[in-house]
Amino acid sequence: MLSVLRRNRLELTDENFNRLLPDYLRLAARLYFTPIRIAQMAAQWLTEDDAKTVLDIGAGVGKFCVAGASLNSSFYFGIEYRESVAKVANDMISTFQLSNSIVQHGNALDIDFRDFDAFYMYNPFFENLSSSRRLNDEVELAGSLYSHYSGEVRRKLDGSRPGTRLVTFHGNNFDAPESFKKVQEAEGGLLKLWVRR
Ligand SMILES: C[S@@+](CC[C@H](N)C(=O)[O-])C[C@H]1O[C@@H](n2cnc3c(N)ncnc32)[C@H](O)[C@@H]1O
Repeated sequence: MLSVLRRNRLELTDENFNRLLPDYLRLAARLYFTPIRIAQMAAQWLTEDDAKTVLDIGAGVGKFCVAGASLNSSFYFGIEYRESVAKVANDMISTFQLSNSIVQHGNALDIDFRDFDAFYMYNPFFENLSSSRRLNDEVELAGSLYSHYSGEVRRKLDGSRPGTRLVTFHGNNFDAPESFKKVQEAEGGLLKLWVRR
């Protein structure tokens, strides 16, 4: 099947993307992964100022990375804590025949944010607060980790260059650092666009 998809370059829609996921991830997609339309909108804004490298902090199955890399030639790098999920993301990147994206297995806290021009975040640490809504039990999650991870990511973002763009989606539990100014909201306030002062 994959060779047929590759020959015909599958159209990037939520339906086409989600149906290629393992069953439990497909069922989780609506809650856990960015819709393609939103991901494209975010990627467009993040790169319109010539950002060459974009980091998805908690990349999941790579939906934002695939949507961005299909849109333009910037490089979309994802970091994903769960090894099996990072593998699915890289399978999706291959399926959609994209050479300008990769998802690395690891912890976002181990990434040097200074290597990136722009950032995307869809509530990566929320699962630490909600024991009943977890994607799987592959990694350690705990309420106490939420503020630790959020604080460390805020500190790393704070170290970015003036003009750096950040998009948060469903980030109501995450405050961008004071050094970022919110310049726009969309999707009823779920999507927030920020620029480093
Ligand atoms: C809500 S999903 C968003 C996925 C993707 N960014 C998207 O928009 O489709 C958040 C992801 O962050 C990952 N995550 C949680 N904590 C992380 C950490 N410390 N480092 C890297 N990834 C993490 C989770 O495993 C999950 O796949």
